[in-house]
Amino acid sequence: MKKPTVVSGIRPTGYLHLGNYFGAVRNFIRMQNDYNCYFFIADIHSLTTHPTPENLQAGVKQVLAEYLACGIDPEKATIFIQSDVPEITELYTFMNMNAYLGELERTTSFKDKARQQPDNVNAGLLTYPVLMAADILIHKAHFVPVGKDQEQNLEMARKFAKRFNRIYNSEVFPTPKPFTFDGADMIKVPGLDGSGKMGKSEGNAINLYEDPKAIRKKVMRAVTDAGPTEPNSTKPEPVENLFTLLKIVSTPDVVSHFDAQYNDCSIRYGDLKKQLAEDIISYTEPIRTRIIDILHDDEYLAKVARMGAEKARESAAKTLNEVKGLIGFKRLF
Ligand code: TYM
Repeated sequence: MKKPTVVSGIRPTGYLHLGNYFGAVRNFIRMQNDYNCYFFIADIHSLTTHPTPENLQAGVKQVLAEYLACGIDPEKATIFIQSDVPEITELYTFMNMNAYLGELERTTSFKDKARQQPDNVNAGLLTYPVLMAADILIHKAHFVPVGKDQEQNLEMARKFAKRFNRIYNSEVFPTPKPFTFDGADMIKVPGLDGSGKMGKSEGNAINLYEDPKAIRKKVMRAVTDAGPTEPNSTKPEPVENLFTLLKIVSTPDVVSHFDAQYNDCSIRYGDLKKQLAEDIISYTEPIRTRIIDILHDDEYLAKVARMGAEKARESAAKTLNEVKGLIGFKRLF
């Protein structure tokens, strides 16, 4: 039986952090055996924030090395760089014709970005969900493993897929579904600053590439409060966030140990943070060692990118041909 297709990507704007890992990459690794997977580096998406050519190139190399270091196997999954597959931008152009200003302006990611970079509210930001839909639909994905923050963008991709099918009276695109490996809800990894999610630009992230000393320092500095004064009280957001992180990286008995201490007001946040830092390090340290090794091997990185581009283009070209036929681009010569 044919394996269902999976597509997902990450923007190369720095190092991968724990949010990227637990929200996305860990699911990629778990899926690569049983699904037809395409994992890519969304370098075109990253242009919305105007990186320098040097930063762009370094970012792409870093994510590629980090994908491999995390355990994505280029023999099992297709790993590629978005800009190596021009079929994606061609499909994006076509999809733009059926994406409307009102719906694009209403997406929260657009509104957030427009607020974050008021001097650079470019058209790429506005049509960001259309490019993302093209990434997904070009391989006819059934599943898209992403973190909770991408839920709305994925909803747009579903809408665009259905709309295209309807307009052209076809079933060319499956409706792509969000995916978490264990069927759990999509996750949001919180940051260390007491609010919101862990993010590259928020300055609240722990990167996979971080050395243990830096991890300990960051975790020990994480925002908390003065501690509970009433037994069994509700945790304020910064404390809840630390517990969420603990639940992600530690064993259930560690979590219940600190939970019990919180509930009887005997908790010392310093102890919780020490434990959290060590449990994060046991995830990141082996990955970091592999990242360092792989970053030295330019030949291997180039080979993986070349192989991935070839495989991704083959799949993309097939879909694009079908789409062009449906739209009415007929060959006259
Ligand atoms: P990006 O580069 O911001 O993030 C990459 C992946 O990491 C997940 N993630 C998180 N998950 C949980 N908690 C967090 N704090 C956290 N921070 C990041 C994101 O959900 C994402 O899965 N638009 C996308 C990239 C993209 C894409 C696509 C994804 C472009 N085309 C097609 C899937 C399919 C983005 O900016 O992700």
